[in-house]
Amino acid sequence: RIAGPCGLVIFGVTGDLARKKLMPAVYDLANRGLLPPGFALVGFARRDWADQDFAQVVHDAVREHSRTPFSEDVWEQLAKGIRFVHGSFDDADAFTELSNTLDALDRERGTRGNHAFYLSVPPAQFPTVCEQLSRSGLAKSADGQWRRVVIEKPFGHDLESARELNAVVNSVFPEDMVFRIDHYLGKETVQNILALRFANQLFDPIWNAHYVDHVQITMAEDIGLGGRAGYYDGIGAARDVIQNHLLQLLAFTAMEEPVSFEPSELQAEKIKVLSATRLAEPLDETTARGQYAGGWQGGRKVVGLLEEDGFAKDSKTETYAAITLEVDTRRWAGVPFYLRTGKRLGRRVTEIAVVFKRAPHLPFDATMTEDLGQNALVIRVQPDEGVTMRFGSKVPGSSMEVRDVNMDFSYGEAFTESSPEAYERLILDVLLGEPSLFPVNAEVELSWKILDPVLDHWAAHGKPEPYEAGTWGPPSAQEMMRRTGREWRRP
Ligand code: BG6
Repeated sequence: RIAGPCGLVIFGVTGDLARKKLMPAVYDLANRGLLPPGFALVGFARRDWADQDFAQVVHDAVREHSRTPFSEDVWEQLAKGIRFVHGSFDDADAFTELSNTLDALDRERGTRGNHAFYLSVPPAQFPTVCEQLSRSGLAKSADGQWRRVVIEKPFGHDLESARELNAVVNSVFPEDMVFRIDHYLGKETVQNILALRFANQLFDPIWNAHYVDHVQITMAEDIGLGGRAGYYDGIGAARDVIQNHLLQLLAFTAMEEPVSFEPSELQAEKIKVLSATRLAEPLDETTARGQYAGGWQGGRKVVGLLEEDGFAKDSKTETYAAITLEVDTRRWAGVPFYLRTGKRLGRRVTEIAVVFKRAPHLPFDATMTEDLGQNALVIRVQPDEGVTMRFGSKVPGSSMEVRDVNMDFSYGEAFTESSPEAYERLILDVLLGEPSLFPVNAEVELSWKILDPVLDHWAAHGKPEPYEAGTWGPPSAQEMMRRTGREWRRP
């Protein structure tokens, strides 16, 4: 579907996200013919830029980061609708100027009063920007027009602050005009969890506590946090990605079949499963956290978090977090969901592994099944997108030896279609007014409710355990699993 006449205003255009993801995504959408011909892109920031300066910034970002090949024609068409408004977020005059700019675009480009405001700004600024949008009349649209707001995480730092933030946002924009970005939901492989589970007969009968031993959700990154202290110090791994990305992955994996893929039906199931999810206890045994120390990665020496620029020398911010969750439903009673994430780990990989119970009986000589593990279905979210099924198979030869083998589906081999970047998909959905892939208020608050006890527990108990860069996290995380008689997968 192609977006109708509209414009996109980005607050915080000088940030990394805007340059690496948002501007390239807008260009890629234009290049794929998914934006209306008169589309407008407006930047708002404190820099003293003219329209052409901003257009040059967008141009450079596009050349460096867009997915699709560069086309002069597409660029020229897009550039005609690029404007820049300079001012700070608390400057009422700048918002009046923004309002005039949008009016002019409505006339010149035919954006018809339809505008999305993308807040790519620190959460402390959300209230200010929302208030200014409200005061300047920009948040309200006339009949037949729309005004939408897009907000980036973190949506608060605990349940209470999330509630306050939601109250401010909702006092200006009605909930159906609020689009909270969780870019994991824009990933093809994440949406495919729903196709895998609900378009097939094969998996559902065994997708429950009778057959599943446990689920491991891993989001490992090899990058460190150099240059990100301003955002990350004091936030940490759990707030940065478990509260949002990993709990959304859990929701897709554990939820019941929605009545349909109507946004409200999908949200209802996610809300239900998140309502039934809680931390397993006692927390000092079922959770672990760490902070990367120096080490070697990819043949390069890297420094520890405490030596990264901008981090407090005694920072207690965790760069690794692992938690155990239980989902109190008939389907999942007693099945632990282990979630882990970390920076500077062995390699970059995100996956969901559904690990099955062992066969109740093995009619083999015990020596023949020494290399047989548990069956597993692994949804490979990235970077090697696909699905792996692991099961035992006879080793060729005269004995009945059984060993684990993998059966693979890989996107690259199965499809010729290319996957749009997550932000591309999500920005298009905002412009189309299609809310399915955006977590609603209730999901955000439930996610904090799940996580708050461990955040409080960690705040009250010591500091994260150091782990060497390039390894798979702190010893306490291995210990946490071993205590249950299980092990983390080595993806
Ligand atoms: C962001 C986090 O939401 O996701 C980052 O703030 C993280 O810390 C990033 O690096 C990872 O995204 P992706 O798409 O590369 O897995």
